[in-house]
Amino acid sequence: MACTKIAVIGCGFFAPNHLHAWNELSGAKLIAVCDIDENKVAAAAAHYSVPGAFTDAAEMLAVAKPDLVDIVTTMDSHRMLVELCAANGIPVIVQKPFGPTPSDCAAMVQACRDADVMLMVHENFRHQHPMRQVKAVLDAGTIGQAVWGRVSFRTGYDVKAGQPYLFNEERFIVLDLGIHLLDLARFFFGEVKSLYSRHARIDSRVKGEDMATMMLGHASGATSIVDCTYESRQLPDLFPQTLVTIEGTKGAMDLKSDFRLSISTGGTCRTEDVSSPLRAWTSQPWHVTQDSVYHTQTRALAAFAGGYEPETSGSDNLKSYALIEAAYRSAKSGECVRL
Ligand SMILES: NC(=O)c1ccc[n+]([C@@H]2O[C@H](COP(=O)([O-])OP(=O)(O)OC[C@H]3O[C@@H](n4cnc5c(N)ncnc54)[C@H](O)[C@@H]3O)[C@@H](O)[C@H]2O)c1
Repeated sequence: MACTKIAVIGCGFFAPNHLHAWNELSGAKLIAVCDIDENKVAAAAAHYSVPGAFTDAAEMLAVAKPDLVDIVTTMDSHRMLVELCAANGIPVIVQKPFGPTPSDCAAMVQACRDADVMLMVHENFRHQHPMRQVKAVLDAGTIGQAVWGRVSFRTGYDVKAGQPYLFNEERFIVLDLGIHLLDLARFFFGEVKSLYSRHARIDSRVKGEDMATMMLGHASGATSIVDCTYESRQLPDLFPQTLVTIEGTKGAMDLKSDFRLSISTGGTCRTEDVSSPLRAWTSQPWHVTQDSVYHTQTRALAAFAGGYEPETSGSDNLKSYALIEAAYRSAKSGECVRL
């Protein structure tokens, strides 16, 4: 079978994970990279042995003619780049946050629908190996029907050092990190009917909130708590781990530190190691995140080749994005938001 020709736009902080993963995937061939910064694109092309290097995305599409484009720029450029790909009839994967506003996100979905091309959001947390294990236990019915849960990411790790643009985000942790956790809450407990959120800014140097606590009412009847902070003083610092607790009608499950998954059922408790194996290019403590990029891209490629809608499609991500909007509305008004 012919390899899918891949082009990546954006060669900044997070792009190495995408570039490594595309180079490892047997059904893909990285044919071009693009960045408006000519030094970054030259370095990426050399390091990842990519034949095409461009500073203009339109020129890259015209010259390299990729089958699939992977956008790894920050959200302000997403709409312009997705619409450019759609106008050229090229399917696209775009990093989170999908866009700066709901109308930008809806416009990208519409543009790709009109052009009849695949649009996937790189929502990688639900593609993390430990999260797939938690979902498999849930789906197997081992703990019965989920009735309560918590999805939690608390760290003091300096995320702004590698991503200085985060200092200026008026909507900070909920849009940057909460989007992943809210998507996980949908993944585990289903669609959301109500959301209440409280936010705080701990680091006075940032513009937006850097701590958030949300309570979600799910259509299934389950209640979940989604909480996140970049200003925890707790040691050991578990960055970049997400902890998950799920209580069910027949048992319970706890994804604890260092990827230990405890499953309590029938009066006994067993604990499994659900960490990701290391790849040639992944390393602790990043490995689970890095590995999830590989799995996200694997599933994108399968959806593209199979002609079906990916799990984290643009239209699916609109539902996670709606929770972001609800969180900001709730934090501002102090009221619970109905969805
Ligand atoms: N899913 C995750 O786990 C995860 C982790 C970190 C970052 N991210 C997301 O990845 C995205 C990129 O983040 P980053 O930290 O790598 O940002 P970055 O600023 O380090 O890199 C973005 C790159 O895109 C380039 N760029 C911007 N506009 C462009 C355009 N029109 N054409 C070509 N190149 C352009 C910039 O020059 C820059 O090199 C963000 O949306 C971020 O939220 C996701």
